[in-house]
Amino acid sequence: MIQLCRCRDYEDISQRAAELLTAQLTWKKDSTLGLATGGSPVGLYRKLRERFAEGLVDFSEVKTVNLDEYRGLAPENPQSYRYFMEENLFRHVNIHPENTYVPNGLEKDSETACRDYDAVIQRLGGIDLQLLGIGRNGHIGFNEPSDQFSSGTHCVKLSENTIEANQRFFERREEVPTEAYTMGCGAILRARRILLLASGRDKAEAVHAMLYGPITPQLPASILQLHENVLVLADEEALGQ
Ligand code: GLP
Repeated sequence: MIQLCRCRDYEDISQRAAELLTAQLTWKKDSTLGLATGGSPVGLYRKLRERFAEGLVDFSEVKTVNLDEYRGLAPENPQSYRYFMEENLFRHVNIHPENTYVPNGLEKDSETACRDYDAVIQRLGGIDLQLLGIGRNGHIGFNEPSDQFSSGTHCVKLSENTIEANQRFFERREEVPTEAYTMGCGAILRARRILLLASGRDKAEAVHAMLYGPITPQLPASILQLHENVLVLADEEALGQ
């Protein structure tokens, strides 16, 4: 079941998401968090850093698994998702570096990269709370619209739409990687709780289809309708208001 929480704006989304994550970590200090990158969670991560500085949240027992990583980018590449996580959260809080996982973008053999990552998720005992953004075309992680829902971690060719949307983080379009490793929809659905953040007018169509449209791999986020415990924090623009 998807529960929808209407938020005023991006700030409101970030605030509520930070409160929810803090509560999760109070309730279960050794939670495994599935984390996301992109613009949507940046405000949330800022609030978590602030809360950590104020002594309100503790990451010492937390484990994290990120949704995805560009294939071919090294962790020290500022465009990589590993780098993003270090900058936005990890290096500011008391999380143990060995408890943070991101798919290995440098592993050329995609079978190895994907198998290893699925093994990590399994070893951690699954994901307690999965954080998600949503792509303009309804993708989650890097699960792009396709003919069937994916299950485990896999290598994807990014759609033109996604490359265009992510171009803003790169100097030139040619620099945007065309492939990525991503957790599958199956792993996302197996998370015990899901929190999806959606802000801005360019998400309105995807959000509407996710909430009210048919469940179809052409709009990967629609599969969340099958999950028992999804909270969507969306602002007025993302709800088309
Ligand atoms: C990217 C990421 C997703 C993210 C989505 C939306 O391609 N792989 O995990 O949720 O696009 O990004 P943003 O939050 O910047 O709109």
